[in-house]
Amino acid sequence: MAPAAQLLPPTPEGIRRAAELLRDGQVVGMPTETVYGLAGAAFDEQAIARIFRAKERPTFDPLIVHVGEAQDLDALARLELITPERLGATARARVDALIAAFWPGPLTLVLPRHARVPDLVTSGLPTVALRRPRHPVALALIAAAGTPLAAPSANRFGRISPTSAADVIAELGDRIPAVIDGGPCAIGLESTVLAVGDAGELAVLRVGGTPIDDIARVAGAPVMQLRQAAGGDPASLLAPGMLASHYAPHKRLVPLPARVAELSGERIRAELHGDALPARLGLLAVSGAAGELAARFAALTGREVTIRVLSAAGDDEEAAHNLFASLRALDASPAEVLFAEPYPENDGLGHAIRDRLQRASHR
Ligand code: TXA
Ligand code: MG
Repeated sequence: MAPAAQLLPPTPEGIRRAAELLRDGQVVGMPTETVYGLAGAAFDEQAIARIFRAKERPTFDPLIVHVGEAQDLDALARLELITPERLGATARARVDALIAAFWPGPLTLVLPRHARVPDLVTSGLPTVALRRPRHPVALALIAAAGTPLAAPSANRFGRISPTSAADVIAELGDRIPAVIDGGPCAIGLESTVLAVGDAGELAVLRVGGTPIDDIARVAGAPVMQLRQAAGGDPASLLAPGMLASHYAPHKRLVPLPARVAELSGERIRAELHGDALPARLGLLAVSGAAGELAARFAALTGREVTIRVLSAAGDDEEAAHNLFASLRALDASPAEVLFAEPYPENDGLGHAIRDRLQRASHR
């Protein structure tokens, strides 16, 4: 067994140690307000290669580069991350408005890349994805390292994104030298990824922590939504990294056709398409009282039930915050098959929560 990753405190010393590792071309687990990232110096090809190796991530899936102080397009150009000349006046105005409104925060912008950005970061695309995180430890680490940091979520490829330092250790602890413990992630879902065309066209490549309606309002323009790719074939992907199966627990996750209160035992069994109902079940519920819901599900199925409720009060932010941690907890529980209630449709975080649940249950 390789030595376990060192858990660094979010103190000046911990950050200094992590920055030292990054300057040496190493990779480090970094807290952000969305999920934990696996960071490496963005212009260091060896560090980027280490990120892909640690995650077992295919190289057709490009990384997000995290910046510290950057107030507008010109600042990103000075960092040698983008070439804004390709963007027309409308595109520039929209990007600057989006940066002013949403950075630091969970919005990633896909912009024309600078030649200095390694091909491995962008998967050879003419664009680069950029985000300024809000977590103070991430910002301190970028400043201490003295370089933008490329960082995908710090999970093995296709698995559940980590929302605590312990999750990062569980995913990658035997493969990376260190993780900074910045506490649980406030948002708990990845950033929204938005592509900006040369004429200012806006297209969401991944729904996430920044609602699409808010983006459209700030940009003063409609936002297109790319349909997710149907399968796992990289050639068919409209946007790289948008595989149908993602964020997946090890156990089978079965989406329920309705809330537990509206279901019969027969309908639940039907979702297994002929497979036997195992002795122990997991239930990911949207809202309500855990005890009552678990008792009802146990009565309907005649089985033992482990439950996680995303938000007792039905609050979207709390649900997003709890989503990945709940999936991990159910994956680690005695339950053999997991069921998930459908998350209500809405324009805010509910959109991203539904997206993650759909990908987590795709098999
Ligand atoms: O919240 C987040 O975005 C987290 C934290 C760590 O910042 N990061 C994250 O990274 O979720 P990752 O690697 O798991 O997802 C990044 C996704 C890729 O899968 C890809 O779909 C998209 O961003 N992406 C990156 N570069 C792109 C590009 N040049 N063009 C289109 N999509 C790109
Ligand atoms: Mg990811």
